[in-house]
Amino acid sequence: ATNRTFTMIKPDAVANGHIGAILNDIIAGGFKIVAMKYIQLTTETAGAFYAVHSARPFYGELVNFMTSGPIVAVILEKENAIEDFRTLIGATNPAEAAEGTIRNKYAKSIDANAVHGSDSDENAQIEGAFFFSQFERF
Ligand code: CMP
Repeated sequence: ATNRTFTMIKPDAVANGHIGAILNDIIAGGFKIVAMKYIQLTTETAGAFYAVHSARPFYGELVNFMTSGPIVAVILEKENAIEDFRTLIGATNPAEAAEGTIRNKYAKSIDANAVHGSDSDENAQIEGAFFFSQFERF
């Protein structure tokens, strides 16, 4: 089935000049852009986006990092989007990300891991709705 996922190009990848290369890899991977914006998260908005992780020991560091510079938020469409996108980006920890994946090529650490990818259809829907209205999806 055709479905959707949500990604962010994180502050490290933006600051290191990788927006274009990452979008190229995503499009070459067969994903269509449904919605996209360049935006900086605040402590409040990043905290809300990652509320599911609020009890985890890395939450404070995660919110700090995600507010450190602008990000690119994107909704993507492809058959089998969730799983295929996770394959394209590689493991959360770039040290464990397979050769040729986006995190293998562009990420430095588990926090500065270049991109986010939704882990389920339900979370993709929630995360996309966090950033985009119905009038911003094409
Ligand atoms: P992301 O998939 O965007 O969502 C949660 C983020 O927390 C994750 O990417 C990592 O960048 C970050 N993180 C930091 N430490 C950990 C950890 N131990 N396990 C999972 N995620 C972590």
